[in-house]
Amino acid sequence: MNKSDDDNLDLNLLKDIFSKEKDPEVRFETINNFSRRLMPEWFLPMLNDTARNSYYSKMLEHSVKDKIVIDLGSGTGMWSIEALARGARFVYVVEKNPLLIKYLEFIFKDHPVKVLGKAFEELTAADFDQGRPQALVHEIFSNTGLGEGVISAFQKVSRIFPDHSLTLFPRYFWFEARVFKQKPFELSAIEQVHLKDKADAYYELVHSLGVRDWGNLKGIDFGSKEVINLMFLDLNKIEQNKSYALKPIPVDITPGYVHHIYLSFKFSTELEGPYFNTLFEENHWGGFIVEFYISNKMKAARKYLKMKLNDNQLFDHPSLEDS
Ligand SMILES: C[S@@+](CC[C@H](N)C(=O)[O-])C[C@H]1O[C@@H](n2cnc3c(N)ncnc32)[C@H](O)[C@@H]1O
Repeated sequence: MNKSDDDNLDLNLLKDIFSKEKDPEVRFETINNFSRRLMPEWFLPMLNDTARNSYYSKMLEHSVKDKIVIDLGSGTGMWSIEALARGARFVYVVEKNPLLIKYLEFIFKDHPVKVLGKAFEELTAADFDQGRPQALVHEIFSNTGLGEGVISAFQKVSRIFPDHSLTLFPRYFWFEARVFKQKPFELSAIEQVHLKDKADAYYELVHSLGVRDWGNLKGIDFGSKEVINLMFLDLNKIEQNKSYALKPIPVDITPGYVHHIYLSFKFSTELEGPYFNTLFEENHWGGFIVEFYISNKMKAARKYLKMKLNDNQLFDHPSLEDS
């Protein structure tokens, strides 16, 4: 950190943040306020997602005491701070964003932390020279769940620690889809304008991909919809040379309807939960939607929506293909 950065940051905000007694909410709010100006914009809904904050906090509450922990993709360092506050003995902080590296080195300079300021792809066993890690907390998820390379991250982890007994927070991961259909007249005025003049289209992507109304899915009855499981991962058993692919999503095409496919992910530490589900948490930050309209002039058909995984990262190229 240079002098002018120092001047801009209110160090008082960080006073006592590592206090073990302090309410986690106070820690989250403090880190949020302190780091706000350094973070990419998409961090903010995530940092303000109280369901996410309390989920991670509970995962770490009784599980990292006296342990050596890795925080993979640490961003603001929120989970490293949480681990230290919950009694972790030492934390390896892994982050590749240069701006965040400087900030992390600054906030952790007087703490039992080693900041590994590089991409996880470049980690080696020699980086972990302050004691063998026992637990790993990560949030290497983008809004698509797979976009930051959670699969390649754990392929790397299993290469560095081949016989590892790292406890993973979280360990299990699911990627899911739910298909909805609506008549155009049920759509909003904005969406109807978008559909005007598309009467002959076989399908017209309304939004090809993107997050719409983060955390504002309250009007939708997800409970009654079939859940299509596109991927399940036990991150402790990721295979190094396996190529992971998402199952295609079967979509029964209804002419004259707009088709919406909600894609979401959930994760947990134990198979039977509790889960963090990006679709159902009220104030969540993850998940996205693919939408398209099929004109009345077209025939009913079954199509498959394919989400592309490239090098184990999810790319934004949904396409419909015949069965
Ligand atoms: C979803 S954010 C994690 C947020 C963090 N837990 C927090 O509370 O601030 C993921 C972080 O992983 C980092 N990241 C993404 N790909 C990475 C890579 N290949 N190596 C290291 N860090 C990476 C990003 O820069 C980002 O800060």
